[in-house]
Amino acid sequence: MESPLSNHCTKQPALKRFFHRLAISSSIVAVLFLQWSTAVKSKEVDPETSQKIAVLAEIGQSIFLDKTLSQPEGLACVNCHDPRHAFADPRPQSAGAVMNRFGTRNAPSLMYAALIPSFAYDEFFTADGDEIYAYEGGLFWDGRARDLFEQVQKPFFHGNEMNLKDEQELARRLRQSDYSEKLKNLVGTKHWNSDSVVTYQAYLSLVEFLRSPMFRPFDSKLDAYHDGNELILSDAEKRGMKIYLEKGKCNSCHPLSANHWERPLLSDFGYDNLGVPSDGAPDRGLGEHTGNTEEIGQFRSPSLRNVVLTAPYMHNGSLKTLREVIEFYNSRDTPQSRWKTTDFPKTVNRSDLGNLQLSKAEIEDLLAFLHCFTDQCLQERTNPSSFPVPPKHTPSSQTKQLYFPGWTHRLHPSYEIEMPQNSNPADNDE
Ligand code: HEC
Ligand code: HEC
Repeated sequence: MESPLSNHCTKQPALKRFFHRLAISSSIVAVLFLQWSTAVKSKEVDPETSQKIAVLAEIGQSIFLDKTLSQPEGLACVNCHDPRHAFADPRPQSAGAVMNRFGTRNAPSLMYAALIPSFAYDEFFTADGDEIYAYEGGLFWDGRARDLFEQVQKPFFHGNEMNLKDEQELARRLRQSDYSEKLKNLVGTKHWNSDSVVTYQAYLSLVEFLRSPMFRPFDSKLDAYHDGNELILSDAEKRGMKIYLEKGKCNSCHPLSANHWERPLLSDFGYDNLGVPSDGAPDRGLGEHTGNTEEIGQFRSPSLRNVVLTAPYMHNGSLKTLREVIEFYNSRDTPQSRWKTTDFPKTVNRSDLGNLQLSKAEIEDLLAFLHCFTDQCLQERTNPSSFPVPPKHTPSSQTKQLYFPGWTHRLHPSYEIEMPQNSNPADNDE
């Protein structure tokens, strides 16, 4: 049985999306504006916290590169999140630690991943005052990790990934690592034998690493343009921007305006079923863990920052190039459509994409514009395997935390996603 509310929403998906997006952008922009306008100079970076954050991030980096934390040994986070590809995986599906075991989804970029808002079921109001509910945010393509803290724990214990048995095994390996002395200093001798304390600090370290400035340099051409350098875009790129905003409708789900951060992240973090070509076993996406039929096959709209570097595309890596992605949006619903069938046709969004009628020249311009999303510090490296060096002015994590107090990546343990009162209790199942 579906709740009256969800029925109401599914009957008007386009409208729902429109108001949902309008509500998100206006409320969040307002909050951000307030935060900035009241930015108090007296908020100061405390050297002790600063030092602790630096230690955590350093240990997090060591864990990220450590190949001894898998069973069998040999697989680290970095093997699936490759700095040469903006920390995404160029393979449609990644290979796990166990021979011949592969995941089912494409490993996304970790650039800006720490800025993805926590999973939430939010209430929005339409212009007529109607209430509308929708999911947004959360980590993984389907948002099943509520926040980054929850996410970073998963790869260690996933059978298709690092394949460790339990926290005890992770703690044992951490105690034998090259960086164990640093970790021990952090944890303290008193707790060094506690598996839960050792692993807790390891997870915190990974979160702190992913929050560090190199994952949020904001130094693409788009950023320069945003900062007032209008001459930086070529004519083709400017034409592409217009298509992005209007005819292509990209902006409605990958907004160019700042919403969750003070700069655009090129995603509204909402969920949709685009009807991407099937690839192996059907993947139920968001609907798998919310239990709502109308959410089956929906995935979170990803940030398009550095998208040129992160091929292949979509949750299952089924589209090989960016040109293919645009052609898919353009011709999915045309009579001579060349696209393979999709997993869950019933929930596919038919109103915002599918037959955009973009000409060849328009596709070229749009492609040119997507190239403006690449951070310079990822492009201009003599050794692409090395970690990117962000611009010097990139604020520290602690400074950002002062201005965005909610940027902790730790929902309170008692935190529950708020559901509308009249929803089906079965929908609450996570
Ligand atoms: C075997 C390959 C593999 C390894 C090893 C791996 N990941 Fe991933 N990672 C993936 C895949 C695939 C996904 C997407 C899975 C999904 O959405 O269900 C993912 C998703 C993520 C995300 C979510 C990004 C987003 O946009 O939602 C983060 C963050 C992340 N990984 C961090 C890590 C960290 C930290 C480690 C090491 C502890 C790690 N990963 C190890 C393959 C891997
Ligand atoms: C209705 C919302 C919506 C619209 C409109 C939209 N997108 Fe998306 N986009 C998404 C969602 C959701 C995904 C992930 C879908 C999946 O993996 O199944 C996605 C994925 C992508 C990806 C793949 C990124 C990756 O890392 O794999 C690219 C590239 C992309 N969109 C570009 C565009 C462009 C260009 C346009 C305009 C022509 C556009 N999108 C319009 C919602 C949208």
